[in-house]
Amino acid sequence: MPSSPLLFLFFLLLSISRPSCQFTLLPLTHSLSKTHFNTTHHLLKSTSARSHARFRRHQLSLPLSPGTDYTLSFNLGPQAQPITLYMDTGSDLVWFPCAPFKCILCEGKSNPSSPTSPTNISRSVAVSCKSPSCSAAHNSIPSSDLCAMARCPLESIETSDCASFLCPPFYYAYGDGSLIARLYRDTLSLSSLFLKNFTFGCAHTTLAEPTGVAGFGRGSLSLPAQLATLAPQLGNRFSYCLVSHSFDSERVRRPSPLILGHYHEKEKISGGEMVEFVYTPMLENPKHPYFYCVGLDGISVGKRIIPAPEMLRRVDRRGDGGVVVDSGTTFTMLPAGFYDSVVKEFDRRVGRVNERARVIEEKTGLAPCYYLKEAKEVPPVTLWFAGGNSSVVLPKKNYFYEFLDGSDGGNRKRRVGCLMLMNGGDESELSGGPGATLGNYQQQGFEVVYDLEEKRVGFARRQCASLWEKLNRDRN
Ligand SMILES: *[C@@H]1O[C@H](CO)[C@@H](O)[C@H](O)[C@H]1NC(C)=O
Ligand SMILES: *[C@@H]1O[C@H](CO)[C@@H](O)[C@H](O)[C@H]1NC(C)=O
Ligand SMILES: *[C@@H]1O[C@H](CO)[C@@H](O)[C@H](O)[C@H]1NC(C)=O
Ligand SMILES: *[C@@H]1O[C@H](CO)[C@@H](O)[C@H](O)[C@H]1NC(C)=O
Repeated sequence: MPSSPLLFLFFLLLSISRPSCQFTLLPLTHSLSKTHFNTTHHLLKSTSARSHARFRRHQLSLPLSPGTDYTLSFNLGPQAQPITLYMDTGSDLVWFPCAPFKCILCEGKSNPSSPTSPTNISRSVAVSCKSPSCSAAHNSIPSSDLCAMARCPLESIETSDCASFLCPPFYYAYGDGSLIARLYRDTLSLSSLFLKNFTFGCAHTTLAEPTGVAGFGRGSLSLPAQLATLAPQLGNRFSYCLVSHSFDSERVRRPSPLILGHYHEKEKISGGEMVEFVYTPMLENPKHPYFYCVGLDGISVGKRIIPAPEMLRRVDRRGDGGVVVDSGTTFTMLPAGFYDSVVKEFDRRVGRVNERARVIEEKTGLAPCYYLKEAKEVPPVTLWFAGGNSSVVLPKKNYFYEFLDGSDGGNRKRRVGCLMLMNGGDESELSGGPGATLGNYQQQGFEVVYDLEEKRVGFARRQCASLWEKLNRDRN
């Protein structure tokens, strides 16, 4: 499966890692499809539109913004069939295409850089309708009903004894596609980790979903939830450190470390200083139980703090509000009023010395954009999470994207910069759901830890590419 020498090297590195560690290290590969996105403008426009679509649906969501997704690979069963999936903290199911596979309306949909063929599940075990995972996949329908759906005999339904009857197929929808799958169990090997009886969805038919997804959300079928039972030594937490993605498709992409479990303080990364995590509590959300939701008190631009509206600080009784930390959405989406206040303050400082680039805004869907002078003044942007000292200073490239624009036909290329935050729409138009999304673009260059034991999310500045190298080196 490794299609490039680089990938081969990663797999070689993985194969020498020892199984005795308290963590498992995996490469998250950043995929970008060159064929569909040959201009920066096109890519930016499509990506911002996708972030919008995902935010507006308030449902299970999928990282399908072409060019800005992180993928993860593992092997299934004794034949070690390779599988590559999108990594998504915003959904709770692990599923992939199974042979024979049919994807409807998939023309032009991007594939990960190393697509895998549909999996042969002839050696995997089908899950029965009595299994709790079957109820979970069917949104808590009792097993007697599931048994009825599986057409088992009446006496079996009455006694809820449907052990020998298979979990009926279930429907699963994302913001921009859907699938019908059945549940199976098999051994999953993730790097040096072997997970027996791992439960996954197997889809023979999907609508607009050509690639499987590894759900890292909070539901019981998600990958971390299953790890908590199948690999308790990992301590019920995971983290990732996203290497900066650039919209320049020519650049060689380095893997982003995905760490299942954690490296100890004493295993301090050699040579580098350890930066403390800044933690903020996870908020419980009965309406969207699979989301990692946190509270945001405000955002500062320069020295001015813009307080966040109440809806971003907490989840209300109906399950609305809060900020979703999402690996599968590209850009951060803020409710309109709050977004406007942040932009106004930003523009007050940056717009004072730089000319606004409306043409670029039109083309990219980003705003505000500026033609930059030599001495540009871009104020620092800090996120103030709920819970005391939880301030996270964003590196400039996480919120201000600079590029050379030559699209006006002339010979002269102009340096342009755009604010990379998105307007998520009017609060009154939001039909409930999370108040905002913290996208992966704003998470680059941080190790983001999901501590499911302590129910908190943490952020620490890191050099993600060298973290990958260091963790590999320290273990060998
Ligand atoms: C980009 O690709 C599209 C379709 O693949 C093509 O029509 C267009 O001319 C290309 N643009 C550039 C700048 O290569
Ligand atoms: C799956 O593999 C088995 C052999 O292990 C083979 O008999 C079967 O035809 C394969 N199924 C598909 C759909 O390729
Ligand atoms: C896996 O599931 C089978 C059948 O349900 C069971 O017999 C076996 O003990 C399980 N193995 C593990 C390691 O849990
Ligand atoms: C914030 O940090 C200060 C100094 O590091 C500490 O004394 C204080 O207890 C912290 N507050 C909270 C709420 O964590």
